[in-house]
Amino acid sequence: MIKAEKLSKSYNGIPAVHQLSFEVARGENLILLGTSGCGKTTTLRMINRLIEPDQGTVYLDGKDIREGEPETLRRKIGYVLQNHGLFPHYTVAENVEIVPRLLKWNTKQVQARTEELFGKLGLDLSLLKKHPAALSGGQQQRVGLARALMADPPVLLMDEPFGALDSITRIGIRKEFLELDELQKKTIIMVTHDIQEAFEMGDRICLMDKGRIMQLGSPEQLLFEPANDFVKEFLKQQHLHLELKVLKVRGRSAWNMMDELGSEALRNLLNDYKS
Ligand SMILES: Nc1ncnc2c1ncn2[C@@H]1O[C@H](COP(=O)(O)OP(=O)(O)O)[C@@H](O)[C@H]1O
Ligand SMILES: [Mg+2]
Repeated sequence: MIKAEKLSKSYNGIPAVHQLSFEVARGENLILLGTSGCGKTTTLRMINRLIEPDQGTVYLDGKDIREGEPETLRRKIGYVLQNHGLFPHYTVAENVEIVPRLLKWNTKQVQARTEELFGKLGLDLSLLKKHPAALSGGQQQRVGLARALMADPPVLLMDEPFGALDSITRIGIRKEFLELDELQKKTIIMVTHDIQEAFEMGDRICLMDKGRIMQLGSPEQLLFEPANDFVKEFLKQQHLHLELKVLKVRGRSAWNMMDELGSEALRNLLNDYKS
């Protein structure tokens, strides 16, 4: 569904993203994971044509995104900005209407879709008249998501969507997210610096450092077949916790998985559990 080919972008001669290539299959959740400044946002914005790469190409459904109209891209790709990114001087209604207006929907269409999405996201319609500052963090986050979902785009890009929330709200919303039927069939690229979040939400994880990919693979692969010392170090502190998460999230028989992976750590862990 999405193919990034050798994307590079420099600022003042310093590479922010260097020769980045990856593919995302239809319906897949890819997580861009890495510390602040490693090039995650820049990558996301190049996929959305908010930033033009110095080099490289992005294909959406096999087509170079530079060839289509920007409106087509807005319809196909929803974008949840870092820190929800709501316009403070717009009401909630005005915020969620941005893309529909661009696409020239009539008032009835806008209203129907807004009501549908607010219902699904557990947002009260009375919020529509308010400004973002009057909303709680969780509500702002949901409105940011609603805005991105208005035109029902097949692709969703999310930049640290839970970043502005306190840790308790965050865990709850993450769970809601995973269960939301609007998101089930979407192709999603999500940016985070939170390792636990990446392991909970990603079908595959792209671990980045200094604008380059350190490893791209399933959570299991990153954990049990780290490609290099960077990956090992990055996951080291939380390794045990992540192993448990992988077991829980995948819902597979631990014994089958142990067979497949032959992981010493996992075997020890399970022995601890049995005794
Ligand atoms: N508009 C810009 N001008 C100059 N430098 C930038 C700009 N945007 C990003 N950078 C730099 O590029 C690097 C990657 O930034 P970014 O993609 O925002 O990282 P991340 O989202 O992973 O925190 C950082 O070093 C950042 O300072
Ligand atoms: Mg960022």
